[in-house]
Amino acid sequence: MAKLTGKTALVTGASRGIGRAIAQRLAADGALIAAHYGSDEAAAKDTVASIEQAGGRAFPVRAELGVDGDVDTLFAALEEGLSGQPLDILVNNAAGPSDGPIEEATPEGFDRLFAVNVKAPFFIIQRALPLLRDGGRIITISSTCTRVATPFQTSYAMTKGAVEVMGRTLANALGTRGITVNTVTPGATVTDLNASLFKTSGAEVYLAAMTALDRLGQPADIADVVAFLASHDARWITGHVLDASGGMYLGPRA
Ligand SMILES: NC(=O)c1ccc[n+]([C@@H]2O[C@H](COP(=O)([O-])OP(=O)(O)OC[C@H]3O[C@@H](n4cnc5c(N)ncnc54)[C@H](OP(=O)(O)O)[C@@H]3O)[C@@H](O)[C@H]2O)c1
Repeated sequence: MAKLTGKTALVTGASRGIGRAIAQRLAADGALIAAHYGSDEAAAKDTVASIEQAGGRAFPVRAELGVDGDVDTLFAALEEGLSGQPLDILVNNAAGPSDGPIEEATPEGFDRLFAVNVKAPFFIIQRALPLLRDGGRIITISSTCTRVATPFQTSYAMTKGAVEVMGRTLANALGTRGITVNTVTPGATVTDLNASLFKTSGAEVYLAAMTALDRLGQPADIADVVAFLASHDARWITGHVLDASGGMYLGPRA
């Protein structure tokens, strides 16, 4: 029997990139997937179709995050799709990109980034708690930018710092229910978020040279780590920030 047979999982931002790979992997492990997306319905349908073609089960859930009523919209569709089943795994993956260096930042952009990357995951967790089975899993996607200073993404890095603190404190709050709360930090991973950056001449070589394993990450590299944290094997890990970057920015390689 697959490891997650009989379990359910909500993956936010599952229409593309890392979220899609997480949804596909958890579905392959047997979970029924609520594949959340913001606006790209065709991409979300592709995620669901790919899961079904592989023999898994999934349904799409649309909700733009960072706007009034976002959590209500999300949970209305989620609960309809779950048809009375509890939730076992919540993966907070959706996030907005960097809004540039401090010279280019605006109060509106800053508020929007925190609304999508911090406020939404926090209140999604709050709303999920009554639905989440004891022994459940909460996993949030952060970034290596919390341990390495990259000046072009200060406010984005601040949002990721916030969710890492959230994970540690919530782990301590929810442990009595057997719920684990962990955070995964990808390094440079090839997705739509950064496709244009990686197209820039030399960027891929430059980033790979800063990575111990000498390549960029692929979404499946992150999904496999999330699947481990979602599994029974990871039952004794909570409040942890797990670096899944192939050893990005560990120091000089020579
Ligand atoms: N890629 C990297 O190199 C990298 C590195 C470190 C950390 N991360 C983190 O990994 C996670 C996934 O990144 P990714 O590269 O896979 O991103 P991506 O390819 O840009 O996909 C983002 C996903 O999040 C959804 N989303 C974004 N903003 C939303 C909003 N306001 N409301 C609802 N849904 C929204 C998108 O939905 P739609 O398709 O509907 O737009 C999409 O499904 C993020 O937390 C990111 O910060 C990525």
